[in-house]
Formats: sequence, C-alpha cells, structure tokens
Amino acid sequence: MKRIGVLTSGGDSPGMNAAIRAVVRKAIYHDVEVYGIYYGYAGLISGDIQKLEIGSVGDIIHRGGTMLYTARCKEFQTEEGQKKAIEQLNKFGIEGLVVIGGDGSFRGAEKLTEHGFPTIGVPGTIDNDIPGTDFTIGFDTALNTVIDAIDKIRDTATSHERTYVVEVMGRDAGDLALWAGLADGAESILIPEEDYQMEDIVKRLQRGSNRGKKHSIILVAEGVGSGIDIGRKIQEATDFETRVTVLGHIQRGGSPTGVDRVLASRLGAKAVELLLEGKAGKTVGIQSNKLVYHDIADALSQKHEIDSEMYKLSQELSI
Ligand code: F6P
Repeated sequence: MKRIGVLTSGGDSPGMNAAIRAVVRKAIYHDVEVYGIYYGYAGLISGDIQKLEIGSVGDIIHRGGTMLYTARCKEFQTEEGQKKAIEQLNKFGIEGLVVIGGDGSFRGAEKLTEHGFPTIGVPGTIDNDIPGTDFTIGFDTALNTVIDAIDKIRDTATSHERTYVVEVMGRDAGDLALWAGLADGAESILIPEEDYQMEDIVKRLQRGSNRGKKHSIILVAEGVGSGIDIGRKIQEATDFETRVTVLGHIQRGGSPTGVDRVLASRLGAKAVELLLEGKAGKTVGIQSNKLVYHDIADALSQKHEIDSEMYKLSQELSI
C-alpha cells in the first residue's frame, strides 16, 4: 500500500487532531503517502481531498476539534453515495482509509469494506459508547470538562443552598454522566441504561438535607430525557430550590488531556499498521491498556454496556 486517506466524521471529539497526526506521521515513517479528506464522508463524495505532509499536522496535537473538519452525511448512507466515494478514492489513487469517529462513522467504514475498499475505524467520540474498546478518544477530556463545570456549580450551589440538575451529553450512553457523577459525588446519576424512581431521588435529597448538606447535584445523561423536565419535577416534589444547567457543546471542545493525546496517538498509529498488514474492516481499541482490534461488523453488532459495578458504587457512596 503506497497511499492512504484519513477522515474525521460525526461529532468531533478532543484528540481527533492527535489521531490525524499519528496516522500521517506513522504512514510517512513507512514511506506511505497520506491524503486528508475534508468534511468527513461529504468531502469524500465531493472530492475535497488534499495531500498531507509531515508539517501539515504540526502544532495540532494539543488542539481540540479536527483540522479535517467533520460532517454528518446523509448521502453517504445511500448506495449511490458510497459508489461516488469509492470513485473519488480510486481517482486519487488512495488504497486504504482510516476513519476517525463514532458508531455512525463506523457504519460508513463497514459499508466501504463491503464494497471491497480496505477501511479501519478509530473510535473518536466523547460518548465512550463503542464496543470493543474501554475508552474512545475524547471521553477523558469531556469528562474533565464536566468535572470542572460541576466543581464551579458546586460553589454557587453551596452559597445558595440549592439543588442543581446538570444535563450532560452522551446520546444513548450514560458513561459521561456516570463517571462525572462518581468523580463529583453526585446525589443521583440518571443514565439511560438504568431505571430510576423520582421517589428515590427525592429520598436522597432529603437525606442529604437532614444531615446538613448545603447543596445537591443530580447528573442526567441526555439519553434519559430533558434535564429541565427533571428539574421541574424535583422542584414540584420538594421544597428544595432547584436550578438546571445543560452543559451542551462545551463538552466537545477544548485542548485534549494527556490521556486522550496518548490514546489518540496509539490508536491512530495502530490503524496505519493494520492497513499496512493488509487488514480491512477492523476497528482499533484499547482494552486493559493493550491495543486490540476487532471486526467493525462485530463491534457494531454489540450493544455498548455500562459498568454496572460502577453504577452500584456511585449509589453506595452517595448515601
Ligand atoms: O456523539 C457525540 C455527541 O456529542 C452526542 O453526545 C450528542 O448527542 C450529539 O453528538 C450531538 O450532536 P450534534 O453536535 O450534531 O448536535
């Protein structure tokens, strides 16, 4: 293989730049040319493609976002869109592709592989919801952003003796809420993977108040529903003054943490290694701190699971 392509797709995540850098440098180290595809699958279809050199990826390892930009592309979900994409890949003489993104991006990578085009997926999403890897690129940074925000909310919550509902991202996955809730000692953590009872939330709030707690934090993963609705229900069910903060896209930006930069560098380089070994239709990941790879089809057929022990622990520690 003498020429590969790289693209980022779906929601961006901090560390994607570090992954692009690793793909480019690892490939050039092995005398392989790299072409950057801009705006994800949309740029693949339209041919928004340029050669990347060693210097093209200089000074980006510490930057959030993605220098290749990203998009969610409906046209690529069609057979016609996929064929156009393959025509472009052939036109540019690209023989293998690294796709950095979440599950939607992986579905695209799987389609290209089905059409006979060697593609490797690198998991990049703040949601941490890709089966086959313990962590996705961007999760650690987003987690720390959420923790920083909650630490600040705690200050004002304590001053005013208020209850705060904080809604975090994660689409259908509760990892961000669970980890942030555990890291911040939240009273209750509401995630889509576990049922919750409003009476239980109220009981926990009352218990904290009875022992003189000055503030309470309730973490809500967006997949559970609107934090605003949950805040209103709490306000109706108690006499605790309640406020709601929806953290939103602030969670997707910022300079990647050291953990994410290292993870991105390792996974990006591994993806190139697999392409050069002639592998296709794989997703790279990290499990127990070892680099691994699986069939993308297998990863996509599995359901992401929450660490239920961790959820139980969060409940035990917030008595
Ligand atoms: O998948 C990453 C993510 O940030 C999810 O947590 C969230 O549900 C979604 O993307 C938001 O997407 P958009 O930026 O397109 O609104």
